[in-house]
Amino acid sequence: MKGEKNSVSEETTEALFDRYVVPNYGRFPVSMARGEGSWIWDEHGRKYLDYGGGIAVCALGHAPPCLSAVLDAQSRKLIHCSNLYYNRQQALLAQHITEKIIGAPGKIFFCNSGAEANDALIKLARRFGHAVPQAGGAQRHEIITFENSFHGRTLGGIAATAQPKVKEGFAPLLPGFVHVPYNDLHGAREAIGAKTVAIMLEAVQGEGGVHTATPEFLLGIADLCREHQLLLMVDEVQCGLGRTGDLCAWHTVLGKEENGFAPDAVSWAKGLGGGVPIGAIWVRDRAQAEHEPEPRLCNLLGPGSHGSTFGGTPLVSAAALAVLEEIEASRWWEHARDLGQWIRDEIRSWQSGLIQEVRGLGLMLGVCLDAENMASRVPAVRGGKVTPSLHIVRALMGEGLLTVPAGDTVVRLLPPLNTSREEAAEALKIFRGVLAELEGA
Ligand SMILES: Cc1ncc(COP(=O)(O)O)c(C=O)c1O
Repeated sequence: MKGEKNSVSEETTEALFDRYVVPNYGRFPVSMARGEGSWIWDEHGRKYLDYGGGIAVCALGHAPPCLSAVLDAQSRKLIHCSNLYYNRQQALLAQHITEKIIGAPGKIFFCNSGAEANDALIKLARRFGHAVPQAGGAQRHEIITFENSFHGRTLGGIAATAQPKVKEGFAPLLPGFVHVPYNDLHGAREAIGAKTVAIMLEAVQGEGGVHTATPEFLLGIADLCREHQLLLMVDEVQCGLGRTGDLCAWHTVLGKEENGFAPDAVSWAKGLGGGVPIGAIWVRDRAQAEHEPEPRLCNLLGPGSHGSTFGGTPLVSAAALAVLEEIEASRWWEHARDLGQWIRDEIRSWQSGLIQEVRGLGLMLGVCLDAENMASRVPAVRGGKVTPSLHIVRALMGEGLLTVPAGDTVVRLLPPLNTSREEAAEALKIFRGVLAELEGA
């Protein structure tokens, strides 16, 4: 009101959220103000070692100089122009992803998030099912995905995600998804029917608790796709771009020379922009149908079939290119592979009864807690008031270490790819201290 004192700015951030922000997230009671490298500070100046990394987003840590510099320069030149026109930054980013990340001919579509990227994969599969139909001519549309997967929060994403909790209260869901246990090749084979058009998977599942595909599973799935003319679609949103110890997570699982696993399409987001929102899919340049060189799969999403106002703007494209070039120049995936192995070995060496196992690859780590042991030591866990993972994540945060829960029993570590050995040692010291306190309880 005119002349009235604006008291809003005097309220705490938490109070403003309570009043003005939809409560769809369970947030920790802390408000972040700035970051640098592996470290983040809250509004009160308290410092945390950020080993959640914005849930695998901050590939180069907070405010990496290469990203700040390019954002500054590009924002002075051109932030946005619509996809009615070409822009060079988008072209160069598409070239980098195709040549340096995938290393096989194909084309890229840009969007703004992981869920949007997977929606684009789903639309690609639908189009493919029309273009290459069943023997009788009816279209194919069913996509097989795997238990404990996570593919995003859009209607397409929750339909694809094989976790009941994300679907709750949103029926009717997008039809056409069949869920099969992860790493169950027999189950996948049995699930293929006349309407099946694609199989979508994560080589390392993140949200579902850090589960890694076996080499036999990946290769078997690729065989099934070839045999039944299905698209092999890989969700690298969380595990891609160096996090697991290679630029593509399936290379970490299979070894780079193994080319029996050749995805038809791949999605990315998270680490791609190093914190700047961007998503992308790559689609292989191959014949759509057997024995017919044209049309090409990578041209299936033709003019007017799909789009995004903000997809691949000059600003985000320049930013993502700077992030990828830095990852490439310093080969950060090798550091991630070695440091991740060291962290896993260290945690295992504690032989803590509170830890059931340590999972994951590179710097995508899941510490799986022993639920029974946790319940015996923590009354709130015993009483079902808090999950074991949430209890530990809160305790770590209290000691200045940020991590991310995955399900009820897994604590995820997703530090920047360039975090140092010293920082990792500091994180482990805190983790060990929290466990030791509980073990002494
Ligand atoms: C494997 C995977 N796919 C898709 C998504 C969705 O990404 P976004 O939150 O950017 O929509 C996530 C997010 O956690 C993910 O881990």
